[in-house]
Amino acid sequence: MTLLKEPDRGTPARTSATTVRLTVDGQPVEVPAGTSVMRAASLAGVDVPKLCATDSLEAFGSCRLCLVEIDGVRGTPASCTTPCGDGMAVTTQSDRLADLRRGVMELYISDHPLDCLTCAANGDCELQDMAGVVGLRDVRYGYAGDNHLGQEKDLSNPYFDFDPSKCIVCSRCVRACDEVQGTFALTISGRGFDSKVSPGVEESFFDSECVSCGACVQACPTATLQERKVVELGMPTRSVVTTCAYCGVGCSFKAEMRGGEVVRMVPFKDGGANEGHSCVKGRFAWGYATHAERVMSPMVRENIDDPWREVSWEEAIGYTARRLLQIQEAHGPGSIGGITSSRCTNEEVYVVQKMVRAAFGNNNVDTCARVCHSPTGYGLKQTFGTSAGTQNFASVEQSDVIVVIGANPTDGHPVFASRMKRRLRQGAKLVVVDPRRIDLVRSPHVEAQHHLQLAPGTNVAVVNAMAHVVVTEGLMDDAFVAERCEGTDEWVAFISQPENSPEAVEHITGVPASEVRAAARLYATGGNAAIYYGLGVTEHSQGSTMVMGMANLAMATGNIGREGVGVNPLRGQNNVQGSCDMGSFPHELPGYRHVSDDAVRTVFETLWGATILAEPGLRIPNMFDAAIDGTFRGLYIQGEDLAQSDPNTQHVLHALRSMDLVVVQDLFLNETAKLAHVFLPGTSFLEKDGTFTNAERRINRVRPVIPPKTGKHEWQIVCEVAQAMGYPMAYESSSQIMDEIAMTTPTFAGVSFAHLDAVGSLQWPCNANAPEGTPIMHVDGFVRGKGHLIPTPYVPTNERSTRRFPLILTTGRILSQYNVGAQTRRTANVAWHPEDILEVHGHDAEVRGITDGDLVTITSRVGETTLRAVISDRLPVGVVYTTFHHPVSGANVVTTEHSDWATNCPEYKVTAVQVGLATKRQTAAVVTQARPMPTPVAGD
Ligand code: SF4
Ligand code: SF4
Ligand code: SF4
Ligand code: FES
Repeated sequence: MTLLKEPDRGTPARTSATTVRLTVDGQPVEVPAGTSVMRAASLAGVDVPKLCATDSLEAFGSCRLCLVEIDGVRGTPASCTTPCGDGMAVTTQSDRLADLRRGVMELYISDHPLDCLTCAANGDCELQDMAGVVGLRDVRYGYAGDNHLGQEKDLSNPYFDFDPSKCIVCSRCVRACDEVQGTFALTISGRGFDSKVSPGVEESFFDSECVSCGACVQACPTATLQERKVVELGMPTRSVVTTCAYCGVGCSFKAEMRGGEVVRMVPFKDGGANEGHSCVKGRFAWGYATHAERVMSPMVRENIDDPWREVSWEEAIGYTARRLLQIQEAHGPGSIGGITSSRCTNEEVYVVQKMVRAAFGNNNVDTCARVCHSPTGYGLKQTFGTSAGTQNFASVEQSDVIVVIGANPTDGHPVFASRMKRRLRQGAKLVVVDPRRIDLVRSPHVEAQHHLQLAPGTNVAVVNAMAHVVVTEGLMDDAFVAERCEGTDEWVAFISQPENSPEAVEHITGVPASEVRAAARLYATGGNAAIYYGLGVTEHSQGSTMVMGMANLAMATGNIGREGVGVNPLRGQNNVQGSCDMGSFPHELPGYRHVSDDAVRTVFETLWGATILAEPGLRIPNMFDAAIDGTFRGLYIQGEDLAQSDPNTQHVLHALRSMDLVVVQDLFLNETAKLAHVFLPGTSFLEKDGTFTNAERRINRVRPVIPPKTGKHEWQIVCEVAQAMGYPMAYESSSQIMDEIAMTTPTFAGVSFAHLDAVGSLQWPCNANAPEGTPIMHVDGFVRGKGHLIPTPYVPTNERSTRRFPLILTTGRILSQYNVGAQTRRTANVAWHPEDILEVHGHDAEVRGITDGDLVTITSRVGETTLRAVISDRLPVGVVYTTFHHPVSGANVVTTEHSDWATNCPEYKVTAVQVGLATKRQTAAVVTQARPMPTPVAGD
């Protein structure tokens, strides 16, 4: 294994229908028109010296190192800023050029510390390389003149250092922050000799607008911006390409290693999802994998009040199997079940659902996607015929109108947000539909044309009103609908009704009718229009209805089936798409095929040698209810912290306590493990071997960077539990599991590890019809044949604000933390978000006597918790907002059990609450943990 170095061709690739031909040092080369001479030279195998150029950034032309001679052209133009011309003859080496380049390098080196041997970047420094390339042997100006040496380092960022003494003011960092990340946190202040890089207005990196994505560090050609791990551990010597395990963007990284230690994660240029970019979590927040609190040995205990007992794998697996069988014998085959994790690989998930169906003999398998994107699966299947987003991420580069609904991409899906912001800076129009003013509404060089700041819980009324405008103002794409859709007459009759008009729903949604009308007109007539949405759509009592409502809008305007359009769920966790694809739902086998389908069951029954029940099993909330009733007694939980992530914590805890056996397979002793009888230590993404499927259906390889620290892969543990229960289940490798998935699941028929290794990644469906995968779906027809326009009546949630609970709480995520924080809280990311905060509008704060930073207690019908308040103008009056990353604040203590009518996805986004200054008792309790109410209060 070696250190993979991707070529840097100096300037970005261009696409053009026109090709130009030229020679570089006599080598002929053909490139698309608009390509720089530097890039053409690189493609011809000639590397021109460079410092300020890199192929992730537009050329800047400041260092003058890349000068060339061009026949018939006067002077020595910079190759990075000179476009190729047809018939050009370029010379990159001559005595004149060599002299000029040496002169440039002399100036740089005369003002640079001469500490190469002790510099962290020694061996990976472009300045050092270029000094060698141009043959610098001596510096005529000496080192004694005015210089920038000895400047103070900025060590404020937890992950990288800034040493301005080493800066050559090439501006690559500034441009990376602007062009790649889109944060505009850096500037070059001063002029001429006094020019220097500065975060914000002479701030430290930590105090500036910097979001720690690391793009500037990656772009810096010197050691000025340097990962601290490189300083500590030295330069990496080998690398493995793998996939980030945080969010549904699914960024590819080179894990760069030294010995057995990860030195840094470098975003992979060939990664289809991220194309060389990353966010703070993927690039820096992987230290949890070796955190001291990680459990490495299996543990068991008879009762949850007993201390844990470390045991051998053999004993843990035997104990688990024996207890599961005993429960089934005493209480019936349906008394046990399993929950799969969207944090785990496709292969790990597949074996859990197989264990439940074949070894447990029931369909009691569900997934944590139940509490996030299950309405996406339902809604898109009903309307389009497949439970997945329609586009690849690159599609947004062709969008003219981007509608973001109930999502906060800059925090939740940052790398995709950077891509989206780039398109917005190019001129695409933006509509944001969200109760909260997310950063996208107004950020550097981006401003939404319309922010529909709706009341939480009224999404469906807004999307219906937009569709009403489309239909009644004659903005439908009649030809598309006539050819591609069904149900049209019924839907048109429904949506045209006056009660769906923007004016009729204004008092419900709080959005001015004129704004809804303008946004609808823009969406219908502004060119390619794409919808991107998140949990602010799905986690509602009408989550599935809203997904169908958005699909209706897209179909009615013909915004489906080509680049730049579509309906796109921004999936939360790294493998939400995959865990759903793998048959984790109680009613569906892999590939979203209903368990009642005899032909599909036969495929699996024949291969597995087991009978599969034709009736759906229990969903997570049903499991909890049945546990409290005493009929469901044993649960195998793969990598999900139910006690923290599921709504109405008191109910969840009651259910878990009611069971005879709770098995937790995870990295850490999480909140759920406190109520478990068996703990089976899992593997981090650095140890896993398998695949994740991201939000664009892209299957990426997850390659083991280090061996499993626990001695076993997670899929092996599951197989051994099944075996110990008497069901033969064994694989030689995770690759073999993928082969079985491909054999049984038509959309995965063309997927194998060998194919993935050859092409990098594949977007399903991948089969004989689409051997290289399917970036965009429904191009020639919908998967279900015709797209189905389905009436979506608005039904208000039962969760209403009242005099006792007058505010509505809604929840979301923040960039630096991830979900329940099990990983990110165990990294230096806590520096940015050490606790969950309640955002309160100034008016709501004032009438309650709350000031910035006060501890407040938030009370709902089911629980109370205490957090610190900040006064915020991001929210409308009457709405409060918090994140849910810290168990101590336990936001889900207050969320209720209202859920989506079709899928039971909890209504996390709407909880009626009261907020008041915390009492002394509550303030004291906040340092211990959030408290469920002693007795649930029904109604008011
Ligand atoms: S880390 Fe990212 S956001 Fe921060 S300055 Fe560098 S490029 Fe900009
Ligand atoms: S910090 Fe690095 S990238 Fe930025 S201007 Fe200085 S040398 Fe160039
Ligand atoms: S955007 Fe998501 S997948 Fe990409 S690095 Fe960040 S957390 Fe990882
Ligand atoms: S690389 Fe062309 S001017 Fe710097």
